[in-house]
Amino acid sequence: MIQNASARVVRDFSGRWRVIVDPYEAGYRGFHGNPWPFGFFRDAEPRPGLAEYDFDRSELLEVPGDWNSQDPRLLYYEGTLWYQTRFRLEEQPGVRRFVHFGAANYHAMVWLDGKPLGEHEGGFTPFAFELPGAGTAGEHVLTVKVDNTRRREAVPTVSTDWWNYGGLTREVSLLEVPETFVREYTVGLDRPGRVRAQLVLDGPRLRQMVQLRIPQAGLEVSGETDDDGRLELVAEAQLERWTPAQPRRYRVEITSETDTIAETVGFRTVRALGTRILLNDEPIFLRGVSLHEESPFGPGRAWSEEHARTLLGWAVELGCNFVRLAHYPHNETMVRVAEELGLLVWAEIPVYWNIAWDHAPTLDCAKAQLGEMIARDRNRCAVILWSLSNEAPATEARQAFLSELAGHARVLDPTRLLTSALFARLDEDAETMVIDDPVGEHLDVMGCNEYLGWYYREPEEMDRIRWSSPYEKPLIMSELGAGAVAGRHGDESTPFTEEHQAHVYRKQIGMLRRIPFLAGLSPWILKDFRSPRRVLPGTQDGWNRKGLVSDRGLRKRAFGVLREWYQELAGQE
Ligand code: GCU
Repeated sequence: MIQNASARVVRDFSGRWRVIVDPYEAGYRGFHGNPWPFGFFRDAEPRPGLAEYDFDRSELLEVPGDWNSQDPRLLYYEGTLWYQTRFRLEEQPGVRRFVHFGAANYHAMVWLDGKPLGEHEGGFTPFAFELPGAGTAGEHVLTVKVDNTRRREAVPTVSTDWWNYGGLTREVSLLEVPETFVREYTVGLDRPGRVRAQLVLDGPRLRQMVQLRIPQAGLEVSGETDDDGRLELVAEAQLERWTPAQPRRYRVEITSETDTIAETVGFRTVRALGTRILLNDEPIFLRGVSLHEESPFGPGRAWSEEHARTLLGWAVELGCNFVRLAHYPHNETMVRVAEELGLLVWAEIPVYWNIAWDHAPTLDCAKAQLGEMIARDRNRCAVILWSLSNEAPATEARQAFLSELAGHARVLDPTRLLTSALFARLDEDAETMVIDDPVGEHLDVMGCNEYLGWYYREPEEMDRIRWSSPYEKPLIMSELGAGAVAGRHGDESTPFTEEHQAHVYRKQIGMLRRIPFLAGLSPWILKDFRSPRRVLPGTQDGWNRKGLVSDRGLRKRAFGVLREWYQELAGQE
């Protein structure tokens, strides 16, 4: 991982790339399925003049961008697609160069001039490969094979309730760094009034003097890295702490003898105490909403700053101080804009529904995605919760898997809260919802997805429903809601009308007010989103309609119902 990669970009490969759709992987596998020498990445011909592909005369697709929403022929396409772009490099002594990907869904293999640079599994986290010899001057060809085939042992697995958008879904760029550079760093408060920073250098000169500066706070502290290029710095500092109401951030500069890196960071503390979440030692109630990383107007992965500002602007309009970015790490811009707007963040890896819990490579893959998510966003003060899973069935194998994952997360980042979106069960009295999923013991905060009034029970029954849990921990109702077609009206009992959705929200809010250990919520969901599971003609047509905003940006009645409650809550702060 290269920290704060966007500060190292010298070339942005955004634009139209040549592509080849390759469902049979002819560009990679020979007749018997093994990689063969005449692959599309090689520019090699079985015999002179007999190349059976030609990127330069092939179709073009935008990068960043999923392929499904760019071409109706690719809407349902799952499989391999090849990307190729050409670029020129100038001689640049004393630098190292990396090609960096914000993400590629799902499995990517990368070649430079026909030579393999590396491969990456996981559709929602960044990766980078160093160019050998800093990338010699001259013309170069970058070829990327992306395969979004769903597989049982993958993370996520074969069944989800979102569109499996494939491709180079986020920015691709060329990074340049000094021979020895600050590869990773963490900076934050380890207690009120004290800044702690850890960093590691990468390169031939690992022992260096390094200085940390926060000019606006008059903080300067320095030290020497050890033989492994590692250094920890601690300093007392009077900093205004980041809060949703005052999302104050500071410019932080780290300067070594060979490198300088800077970014804007907020400082806050977060912990759980009993059934409360404390931000800067003050109890906070999380007024949230869940969202998918889908562009605000129409289908397709969201990737740009404009997408983020539109989606998160709707959350702010709703009265939120919190967003659940579901069910996978969203792009870095989304998280940075949330931080700027004063929105706390629940970030999650796609351990979703019933993955292959007892398959060791699946655990390794989940751990890798968790590690990449934490490494990328470790300096984002807006992120307060790492979510390990969503609606995972309570089995032995799952328990072992998630406890291992929780242990891994605590080692990687002991400063944030761990959570998961769990199920509750109805008690014998049929009026008490109980959250006692055994994985709760590994969590700091319980998340719970419930669809009372939609998938089960009548909305009115929520007037009598109580909630309990043996865990003395804060609860975030991570999903609740109902479907509605924007502009469809009728009586409160008719599903998919705006009136019914609003009615379910009113009943939910009535019930939620009575849960003593509720510390927040993130209703499902901010905006209607594409899902191949949603096929009801004239109503869903490939869209999950639980949005408070339609796929055309129309606010549904329930949007107002929730905003009204959030305004009331904000008024009580
Ligand atoms: C589940 C799941 C979501 C899904 C939602 C729904 O709880 O976590 O991914 O979209 O329910 O059914 O709409």
